[in-house]
Amino acid sequence: MKVAVIGSGGREHTIIKKLSESKEITQLYAIPGNGGMSEATLVPIPVTDIDKICEFAKNEKIDYVVVAPDDPLVAGMVDALNSVGIDCFGPDKKAAIIEGSKVFSKDLMKKYGIPTAAYGVYNNIDDALEYVKTAPLPTVIKADGLALGKGVIIAETKEEAENAVRSIMEDKIFGASGNNIVIEEFLTGPEVSVLAFTDGKTLVPMVSAMDHKRAKDGDKGLNTGGMGTIAPNPYYTEDVAKVCMDEIFIPTIRAMEKEGRTFKGCLFFGLMITENGPKVIEYNCRFGDPETQVVLPLLESDLFTIMKACTNGTLDKCEVKFKDGAACCVVMASNGYPEKYQSGFPITVDGDIEATVIYAGAKKDGDNILSAGGRVLGVSATAGDLKSAIEKAYKETQKVHFENAYKRNDIGARALKALN
Ligand code: AMP
Ligand code: GLY
Repeated sequence: MKVAVIGSGGREHTIIKKLSESKEITQLYAIPGNGGMSEATLVPIPVTDIDKICEFAKNEKIDYVVVAPDDPLVAGMVDALNSVGIDCFGPDKKAAIIEGSKVFSKDLMKKYGIPTAAYGVYNNIDDALEYVKTAPLPTVIKADGLALGKGVIIAETKEEAENAVRSIMEDKIFGASGNNIVIEEFLTGPEVSVLAFTDGKTLVPMVSAMDHKRAKDGDKGLNTGGMGTIAPNPYYTEDVAKVCMDEIFIPTIRAMEKEGRTFKGCLFFGLMITENGPKVIEYNCRFGDPETQVVLPLLESDLFTIMKACTNGTLDKCEVKFKDGAACCVVMASNGYPEKYQSGFPITVDGDIEATVIYAGAKKDGDNILSAGGRVLGVSATAGDLKSAIEKAYKETQKVHFENAYKRNDIGARALKALN
């Protein structure tokens, strides 16, 4: 079968690597992919060009498409491909709204009693400004729509809250995403990412993960797309997992079905384990990045078989097995990211590397692979336990070389502390 993966980052490279193990797949395409994805044929069409991608998939007789990023999912790429007879992994437009609109997801949780932070929705700047005058601090202000993962502002003071409201609703720093805002209660507790396979009726959680969003060691510095991950997340105990399954995961897919928005694909639960139990911080309608880089390496079952079962509604009959052990992914970025940085430097990898190099911001230049972005690549390692996985990932980063490389040195440190 011919399978195409939409997207170009580390998440997509991990999916491609896993799919390349599947015997059923004869040819893999990455649209647009990146220069480090040697397992796939690169097709240079932007992920948001739905018409062109449909045309290519039809002409090339692609059998199955994995739509990995949020933008094309929210814009309806799965609907478009289905309408030309091509099966996909990923939710349709109606279901992708669970990530596409924070107002929708908060209202869904309220309606169905799914635990989340208390909140209000504002579509008028005067009401929002009036509210933040007396709101408890810190207060959390979120643009309604997609904002490249940057649509959340945590305001520590009244002035910061007012400025946040103005910059989102008046100055439109997140564009039309900020026409409506959610203002919500500030929660505290460790964060856990859980990705789950679902066909809309059955839901199978994957091994849990922990992201490290800040640029600098000790969770300092600016928010990034993620500087590293570990799995499993020690805060996600068996007891917590059971509560999440009963009170969050299953109620969410049932709620979506009841709303006529059956969700098929990978549903990502961003959770906070508060004193009052786990609560939903956000839903994503897709695999996480860089969570995928530690979750899929631990998947023992065939990814393509599971994806097709999600599409066909037969997930209840499908084996989804994870390996024991743990994984760690250390992101190697261009120094300066997420602000100004230089790239375009050759990347070399020693032949004896014992970890997987997952490319994200990379491009091909003749026989060379050059750095071409903020997050350049991830070094992902698995081992019998978390401590060994972290040590291995860090040891193997020394075998990857490019000028101007930057990484955090404490990926997994907090998780190890929690284990002890
Ligand atoms: P999001 O874009 O929704 O993932 O939010 C980005 C980050 O903001 C989350 O990973 C949390 O660390 C933080 N955050 C979001 N909502 C809240 C909240 N209600 N309370 C505390 N922190 C939050
Ligand atoms: N790592 C968080 C996300 O994928 O949104």
